[in-house]
Amino acid sequence: MEAIIRLENLFFRYGDVEAIRDVSLTLPAGIFGLLGPNGAGKTTLMKLLLGFLQPASGRGEIMGQELGAKKKSLRRSIGYMPESDCLIPGLDAVSLTAYLGELSGMPRQEAMKRAHDVLYYVGLEESRYRQVETYSTGMKQRLKLAQALVHDPNLLLLDEPTSGMDPAGRKEMLELIRDIAKKESMNIILSSHLLPDIESTCRQVVIMNRGRIAAEESIAGLKKDRRNVFEIRVVGDGGGFFAALAAAGWQAEEKDQGLFQVKPPEGTEPAALFRAAREHSAQIRHFRQSRTSLEDAFMDVIRGSDGN
Ligand SMILES: Nc1ncnc2c1ncn2[C@@H]1O[C@H](COP(=O)(O)OP(=O)(O)O)[C@@H](O)[C@H]1O
Ligand SMILES: [Mg+2]
Repeated sequence: MEAIIRLENLFFRYGDVEAIRDVSLTLPAGIFGLLGPNGAGKTTLMKLLLGFLQPASGRGEIMGQELGAKKKSLRRSIGYMPESDCLIPGLDAVSLTAYLGELSGMPRQEAMKRAHDVLYYVGLEESRYRQVETYSTGMKQRLKLAQALVHDPNLLLLDEPTSGMDPAGRKEMLELIRDIAKKESMNIILSSHLLPDIESTCRQVVIMNRGRIAAEESIAGLKKDRRNVFEIRVVGDGGGFFAALAAAGWQAEEKDQGLFQVKPPEGTEPAALFRAAREHSAQIRHFRQSRTSLEDAFMDVIRGSDGN
């Protein structure tokens, strides 16, 4: 399968800020979540992909074209929904969408027709003749999605698509994205700092932290890693017990008053926990597999990469 995106040792800095640090990544066709806390470098990476920024070093390809090659054909095949506003005041939604369609290389007539279609699709048909500066945040997000779709691109880069939306609007936006993803020819990269956005739309996720790729995994795989994590409650003096666990390589973290999350080192069975408790006169009152929360898995990845 041909890779949609291939990056090799990409670096980028804004002055002193190293925003992208040695990013190598190969993405095949499909829909991918780009997940990471604020400041991780997601937006910068998208701008590098689009050729808006030039890497300090490293190279890459997008849709078979060298990064930064300003080819018209590339503009035609990529749709971009930026995080910041890209709306031109004084224009109504139809004119704006059609205009951006033309900039992407569409003939005027076709751009106008498609503008009406995509505005209908994102639920803005009623307000399509209103000036865009009168739009609410939710409507602006929809309009930003519409302009990314107007030229029917093969690759859609969505940067924080639910940003600033209320819960109902967010749900609808995510439904739209899922619907778009069903189209076989459409590849999507969806960046978000919100795990639920990614979880509800993507099966594959690339996690970024501090300018680096911290993990590249399936959502299912991320959850599976958590199977070997347990929750325990200990009565009696747990001091010696926890010291023994730590010495044996267990990770333990107090989640709540007296409730600990423990993870055995590779190759150690959970039964060792009970032996250690007996030896140190601690009583385990509650023991169960930790709920596989993707949030925890995500936090683990972020914590694991924080030292870099
Ligand atoms: N125009 C800019 N000038 C200076 N620093 C910037 C600029 N844009 C982003 N940064 C910095 O680069 C890093 C990555 O930012 P960004 O790509 O926006 O991350 P994300 O989209 O994941 O929140 C952050 O440390 C951010 O403060
Ligand atoms: Mg961003």
